[in-house]
Amino acid sequence: MKHWSKGKSERLERDFVAANSGRSPVATASSLPVLRQQAATCKACELWKTATQTVFGEGTPGATIMLVGEQPGNQEDRVGHPFVGPAGKLLDAALAEAGIDRSSVYVTNAVKHFKWTASDRGKRRIHKKPRASEIQACRPWLEAELRVVRPQVLVALGATAAQALFGASFSVSRQRGQLIDSPLAPFAIATVHPSSILRAPDEKSRHEQRRMFVNDLQRVALLATQAHAA
Ligand code: URA
Repeated sequence: MKHWSKGKSERLERDFVAANSGRSPVATASSLPVLRQQAATCKACELWKTATQTVFGEGTPGATIMLVGEQPGNQEDRVGHPFVGPAGKLLDAALAEAGIDRSSVYVTNAVKHFKWTASDRGKRRIHKKPRASEIQACRPWLEAELRVVRPQVLVALGATAAQALFGASFSVSRQRGQLIDSPLAPFAIATVHPSSILRAPDEKSRHEQRRMFVNDLQRVALLATQAHAA
């Protein structure tokens, strides 16, 4: 198995403590249940006011693969678990097709509160993209998850997660499926967000986009095998 270097862990820890200094709650715990409990009261940005609850990541602490999405959606916000709505169902099926068992991965989001706006008639909650400041405010939780899980393969799902993890200039359309040199994990890669596949204009392009998504996840499965063998 490829290992995180000591320097890399220490650097993450240092950046993480610096980012948290003076902010409450401080996400320095080294256990996921404690972090989840602390994140439940996070008010580092304004999103907690309109969300039902914090949706923290889920999975085993030693998971080889960590998947990072954008933010919880409508259903995730109500039930408190990541990727359980339509995008999550597509993700589960694609992971299974790629030979990855969802229960063996850690799944989280760059932002842990649902950002939404009311539809015209006020009956529906429409997803709104998080601002850079909201992503930044939530970053200590993501870094804490990275510190504790220490994934071998880090996977960004969509542009928000990819830019949060790999920098603002990252382009998913140009760099999807390619290995990214990142201090965050031995292997890092980005692919599209599953909800972009659900938004495809017709059946033919949905089918093609789904095929490419599974293809990217097959690469992730291969990297996980490689990480174990190294
Ligand atoms: N979209 C995301 O990015 N994350 C979720 O948890 C659900 C939908």
